[in-house]
Amino acid sequence: MASKFGSSTAVSSCLFLALLLETVGAASLSYNGLAQTPQMGWDTYNAYALAYNESTILTNAERLVSLGFRDLGYRVVIFDDAMTELNRSANGTLIANAAKFPSGLQSIANQLHDYGLYFGVYSSAGKYTCGGYPGSLGYETQDAAWWASMGADYLKYDNCYNEGLSGTPKLSQDRYAAMSNALNSTGRDFVYSLCNWGDDKPWEWASTIANSARISGDIQDSFSMPTTSCPCGPDEYYCQLPGYGCSVMNILGKASSIRSKNQAGYYNDLDMLEVGNGGMSYDEYKVHFSMWAAIKSPLIMGNKLDQLSPEDYAILTNPAVLAISQDPSVSAVSRTVTQQVDDKDAWGFGEVQVWQGSLSNGDQVVAFLNAGNNSRTMSYSLVDVFGGLRTNTNAQKSWDLFDVWGNHTVMSTEVAAQVLNGTLAVGNATGYYNASETTWATGLNQSNPLLIGTPAGTVQGGGTLQAEVPRHGIQMWRLRQAGGSGKKRDEL
Ligand SMILES: *[C@@H]1O[C@H](CO)[C@@H](O)[C@H](O)[C@H]1NC(C)=O
Ligand SMILES: *[C@@H]1O[C@H](CO)[C@@H](O)[C@H](O)[C@H]1NC(C)=O
Ligand SMILES: *[C@@H]1O[C@H](CO)[C@@H](O)[C@H](O)[C@H]1NC(C)=O
Ligand SMILES: *[C@@H]1O[C@H](CO)[C@@H](O)[C@H](O)[C@H]1NC(C)=O
Ligand SMILES: *[C@@H]1O[C@H](CO)[C@@H](O)[C@H](O)[C@H]1NC(C)=O
Ligand SMILES: *[C@@H]1O[C@H](CO)[C@@H](O)[C@H](O)[C@H]1NC(C)=O
Ligand SMILES: *[C@@H]1O[C@H](CO)[C@@H](O)[C@H](O)[C@H]1NC(C)=O
Ligand SMILES: *[C@@H]1O[C@H](CO)[C@@H](O)[C@H](O)[C@H]1NC(C)=O
Ligand SMILES: *[C@@H]1O[C@H](CO)[C@@H](O)[C@H](O)[C@H]1NC(C)=O
Ligand SMILES: *[C@@H]1O[C@H](CO)[C@@H](O)[C@H](O)[C@H]1NC(C)=O
Repeated sequence: MASKFGSSTAVSSCLFLALLLETVGAASLSYNGLAQTPQMGWDTYNAYALAYNESTILTNAERLVSLGFRDLGYRVVIFDDAMTELNRSANGTLIANAAKFPSGLQSIANQLHDYGLYFGVYSSAGKYTCGGYPGSLGYETQDAAWWASMGADYLKYDNCYNEGLSGTPKLSQDRYAAMSNALNSTGRDFVYSLCNWGDDKPWEWASTIANSARISGDIQDSFSMPTTSCPCGPDEYYCQLPGYGCSVMNILGKASSIRSKNQAGYYNDLDMLEVGNGGMSYDEYKVHFSMWAAIKSPLIMGNKLDQLSPEDYAILTNPAVLAISQDPSVSAVSRTVTQQVDDKDAWGFGEVQVWQGSLSNGDQVVAFLNAGNNSRTMSYSLVDVFGGLRTNTNAQKSWDLFDVWGNHTVMSTEVAAQVLNGTLAVGNATGYYNASETTWATGLNQSNPLLIGTPAGTVQGGGTLQAEVPRHGIQMWRLRQAGGSGKKRDEL
């Protein structure tokens, strides 16, 4: 089924799954048929909070197109809170905020659609939104109809002022299901994104009513800084007080202990991306982006697209990392090693981790995450990659390594700078992949080198992966059986 937010899963890949894979779970169908791979887009909140308006939206929308983000799949533009007037009309309908949107929401929605983008709206399953605007609790049908009448395609649905209707999974699920049903009754396709901060463990119940659900308090633009507003530590699997101001390492810690129920059309949401906002180093943003992609979180940028540095632009457009995010398997990596180290950072944080998982065509992904304060050599054997059993046949095979951050893969700073200053059309930029032209699934099928990564040698059967990993940095590889899974496919 052709659908919004990601190509549909190729039927034939199920054959490969069945024949080639030992560990990947087969993808099942999304509750509403949408978001067959994790949704991608851009949201106002991280960079503008509530201080955005029509020109903010249209400027960034234009950049999504001209910088090639749309054709990488970043298609939804989310108006995050403060869309309306403070009061409903006499008959109960929401009223678009006239001061912020002088042309009217309908006109802006039309312009987004003309750009080939999607129109994303926001509300809260409560009396008010988090910003104090009218919430949709009790108004689900009316509000869904209003959004649908303007051609909205996506709803981010928050959890503020929920009138105490939380505390058990049933209370939360009922409240969120009311909107799921209301969206369905409009007859219009809506990708439905729950923003309930992991409250009442949505990873256990939301996949039958929504396309994604947040697992933690709001992200902040920091690698490891603890805040009192994010009260639960990274290893507290279930947080009653999710809060906000959670660091990348805090959110990854929470994600590590949630059994993934990812399937085509449902994703654990680690919150929006901070890449481009200046609070982290280049290596830290690479960790953030790589891990969000490999865990199959939605990838929603939250930056100012007219202020991107070449380095940040090259991160967000990295085709080999996006090919892992948009892999047809939708299978998330899991954490197999976590170990405290002595070299703590200024916040007292210091750990090394290994994350790994399977991809649709039998490839593997392995990530060495060095969240220690010094650069270090990390290593991990193929036996460990394949479950610790020396006799595992995959561990005895040789694997080609492809570095997803290698210099044949990432757009160079020079090229990125030329695209950003308008002297080079992105479609002609070395390192750019046009996923509107050739879907991720097809590009992977064709072993497009941009999607596979930069060749980085071969590990012999029973051998060990090893890399020097920078401070607060990552080494992420795609592993492909030596001789090529392409060859295996031809034999089928
Ligand atoms: C909204 O309605 C309340 C009463 O329901 C009223 O007190 C308030 O002045 C109204 N605010 C605006 C901005 O119209
Ligand atoms: C409700 O009121 C608004 C604002 O006055 C108006 O635009 C809209 O048509 C009304 N809707 C219905 C269903 O009466
Ligand atoms: C939107 O905000 C920008 C920046 O604050 C401002 O310059 C512009 O006039 C505003 N436009 C509208 C339509 O409010
Ligand atoms: C509404 O739900 C029904 C039953 O699950 C489904 O067949 C239909 O496609 C849904 N419609 C929309 C617009 O999501
Ligand atoms: C951690 O690394 C940074 C950057 O190299 C350095 O400035 C700092 O002194 C190191 N140690 C601590 C405890 O922050
Ligand atoms: C990648 O780096 C290597 C070694 O520094 C260099 O020889 C090669 O030309 C670079 N390739 C690209 C595409 O930048
Ligand atoms: C654009 O950026 C490139 C690379 O930094 C630089 O060589 C070129 O002079 C810039 N052109 C303009 C018009 O700013
Ligand atoms: C790429 O460059 C060629 C000329 O070298 C030009 O004809 C073409 O239109 C350019 N493509 C894009 C997408 O700008
Ligand atoms: C991507 O390919 C499509 C289809 O060929 C084309 O319309 C679009 O302009 C391309 N995008 C970029 C950024 O070059
Ligand atoms: C992948 O390749 C196989 C075999 O060549 C083909 O049957 C299948 O349609 C391809 N799938 C995609 C998504 O391109």
